[in-house]
Amino acid sequence: MVERAVERRRREFAIGRQCARRALARLGVTGFPLLAGPDRAPLWPAGIVGSITHTHAGAAGFCGVAVAARQDVAALGIDAEGVDPLPSDLWDFVLTDAEKRQLGRKPEAGYRAKLAFVAKEATLKAVLPAAGQPLDFRDIQVNVAPAEDGFVAEVIAQAEKLPPWMRCCAGRFARHDRIILAAVVVPNRIELASGPERSFVGFHAMC
Ligand SMILES: CC(C)(COP(=O)(O)OP(=O)(O)OC[C@H]1O[C@@H](n2cnc3c(N)ncnc32)[C@H](O)[C@@H]1OP(=O)(O)O)[C@@H](O)C(=O)NCCC(=O)NCCS
Repeated sequence: MVERAVERRRREFAIGRQCARRALARLGVTGFPLLAGPDRAPLWPAGIVGSITHTHAGAAGFCGVAVAARQDVAALGIDAEGVDPLPSDLWDFVLTDAEKRQLGRKPEAGYRAKLAFVAKEATLKAVLPAAGQPLDFRDIQVNVAPAEDGFVAEVIAQAEKLPPWMRCCAGRFARHDRIILAAVVVPNRIELASGPERSFVGFHAMC
């Protein structure tokens, strides 16, 4: 799948697949070739949802994979990025007007913009396979919890591409070695119908 890619890409892809194999083995799935769709989304085995992230940020880079049984979780998405602030020339591309207004000119605005970016990437990875079409960063609005340990991501444009229960996602942040991690879990419909609290995925750093 990446034989023509540059060395760095081949390596991150291979490490991601290695993590995925280990994670799938924990759910009892072995010997499964994890291919990707035309949009690059991994094609997980039947009955499994999952997400892959890799970054070259931090001291040694980071790769993480999360998987879950579809009977427990409708979709999940994870993302890892360096803690450095989101460059201001990307704000218009990534943030909605409301998000930019909220950030204002506070000293920590660049870092908080990065939190919103990581949250949106995790959300996109969770919902894009269900949308079946591209969504933009500004189709999603993120509210970061005051303690910066969690967020709610709401799909505010093109929401009709998604089933109602995927239009508002809860997520959590974690920090590890100058890397911010974000995870989004979309509970399955049966869970929502029976009304338990929202569940969250935890990160498992596998390499
Ligand atoms: C999907 C997306 C969020 C991934 O971002 P990224 O910076 O490549 O994220 P990471 O490097 O952490 O993770 C890459 C992994 O995400 C997964 N991924 C890629 N596309 C995906 C998708 N459509 N759905 C779910 N997961 C996807 C893959 O597993 C990939 O790793 P692999 O190719 O080695 O298997 C991003 O590419 C994207 O589509 N953003 C949409 C917003 C946007 O850019 N809009 C403008 C359109 S013109």
